[in-house]
Amino acid sequence: MTYQQLLAEVNNNVLYITINRPQKLNALNKEVLDELAHAVATAQTDKQVRAILLTGAGEKAFVAGADISEFQSYNLEEGKQLAKDGHENVFNAIENSSKPVIAAVNGFALGGGLELAMACHIRIASDNAKLGLPEVTLGLIPGYGGTQRLAQLVGKGLAFEMIFTADMISAEKALQIGLVNYVVPQSDLLARAEELLDKIKQRAPLAIASAIKAINAGFNPKADGYQTEIDEFGNCFDTHDFKEGTAAFLEKRKAIFKGQ
Ligand code: COA
Repeated sequence: MTYQQLLAEVNNNVLYITINRPQKLNALNKEVLDELAHAVATAQTDKQVRAILLTGAGEKAFVAGADISEFQSYNLEEGKQLAKDGHENVFNAIENSSKPVIAAVNGFALGGGLELAMACHIRIASDNAKLGLPEVTLGLIPGYGGTQRLAQLVGKGLAFEMIFTADMISAEKALQIGLVNYVVPQSDLLARAEELLDKIKQRAPLAIASAIKAINAGFNPKADGYQTEIDEFGNCFDTHDFKEGTAAFLEKRKAIFKGQ
């Protein structure tokens, strides 16, 4: 698939996805969402891809939200369908990606933009980033998982406050409340993400996929996190990577994982 709204390239086993609508502050229209869904789904079976790095084009915005002009005329059913499709095809797909996804938050991350960053496993923000869920200023609530993931990340009290006030917070404040893992100067953003990915790429890919499943299960009311951990722990014993990792330790050498 040739993307119109994304830049996507694999470099050093990382799929770099850049949402490329800088003139609209990378707002999420249907085409962006469809292309994101495709890129994330394809990455799951692409052996070249060990991890995904998601960012926005330009220096101003990661993503300034869902494209307001697109849903302005929607009715109840259309609104519900918009949220359902987004949850299933994009936001949950990113959260459940078997390959780690890092958001490099390079500016405004508002509404659907913050929801997108929160669906990623790790967030690194540039020092100019501003984050918030301003949906109530539009007569809406967050509809791409924001009411759930914000509360999971920062706790219920701060989530209520951020959603009720619609205030944007600074990158530093986001770091302080655990909404992002690191804050760096904008010029260092991708390098910091790559540094983290270089380390992650040395680890056992199937074990990382199992960890993603187990951690996510703990936040899914329909799943049993502890049971998922037991099952995934067991599954690890059936992998070549487990044999390689333990053998390498005992032989005092560096493990070379193949994700098998
Ligand atoms: N949907 C559609 N278009 C958007 C958008 C969104 N969420 N966010 C920004 N844009 C567009 C603007 O309409 C503008 O387009 P135009 O040049 O054709 O008029 C362009 O992006 C630049 O935005 P602008 O508002 O002029 O930039 P700014 O620096 O003055 O303000 C923001 C930046 C982020 C504060 C402001 O764009 C904003 O509040 N955006 C909406 C945020 C939001 O409510 N998101 C939640 C959506 S559910």
